[in-house]
Amino acid sequence: MKILACIGSNRKKGNTARIVQMIEARMQTFAAQHATPLEFETLYLGDMDLRPCRGCRVCFDQGEDKCPLKDDIPLIRAKMDAADGLLLASPVYVDDVSGLVKNWMDRLAYLCHRPAMGGKCAYPLATVGDSSPSHTLRTLNAALLTWGYHLVGQTGLKMGALASADELPRYQPAADKVAEKLFNAVAQQKAQNPAFVSLLAFKVQQLAWQREPPGSYDRTWWQAQGWLEPACTFYFPPRANRVKVALARLAGAAAARVLT
Ligand SMILES: Cc1cc2nc3c(=O)[nH]c(=O)nc-3n(C[C@H](O)[C@H](O)[C@H](O)COP(=O)(O)O)c2cc1C
Repeated sequence: MKILACIGSNRKKGNTARIVQMIEARMQTFAAQHATPLEFETLYLGDMDLRPCRGCRVCFDQGEDKCPLKDDIPLIRAKMDAADGLLLASPVYVDDVSGLVKNWMDRLAYLCHRPAMGGKCAYPLATVGDSSPSHTLRTLNAALLTWGYHLVGQTGLKMGALASADELPRYQPAADKVAEKLFNAVAQQKAQNPAFVSLLAFKVQQLAWQREPPGSYDRTWWQAQGWLEPACTFYFPPRANRVKVALARLAGAAAARVLT
């Protein structure tokens, strides 16, 4: 099992990094108990060469490999591709994700058009001083869902400016819960049984790209995956109840009328 943890704080001894370390330790325990080899890689987005998106739309219109910015985005994308699960951890900055996370998301915005993360699990985590983490979690959830990830939970932790070593044990139950959910979801391949909202989101996108005039980069890409075929219900044949799939597709068709 391969897990990639992306940390959107520059503080390597900060709240977010500490919680991710606690989650990793717990996941290693589960892995040992289940005799499952676990590769857990932590990526500090602040260590990466990540330039701000210029908004040129080349990734949308010609493909991400044509992006004029030559930095670490392809390296990060390769790590995301290689991982079975993503732990995305951001501190809350002014009621939303940190700039590091937002920039990383903007640079991967082409994944909203060409969701390549189907079949992988993701867990969004936000640490916050004292206010609500819900807006930040919504931002994280929306991106991960649109990119094709299967969301296995979400956690927001109020930790003040910097939790002291004495305070950290208070967060152990929450860290254990994240570790358990992510480990089980990946081990049991829960992404193969997508959530109703994921099936719905697929239908909305499918209808949008079916209506697009032929020839666009995105439409051609969808076509190449076989996802524009009327019988195609998801990024891969889902291991889901047929009634759920049918209802999600009906709801997706209705939502598409409003959204597109
Ligand atoms: C620039 C900045 C903006 C912040 N904005 C908020 C905020 O809007 N609400 C809040 O409760 N805490 C806010 N905080 C506190 C952090 O969310 C909190 O301390 C977080 O756990 C820090 O994580 P870190 O130690 O991993 O960087 C902010 C901190 C910084 C540095």
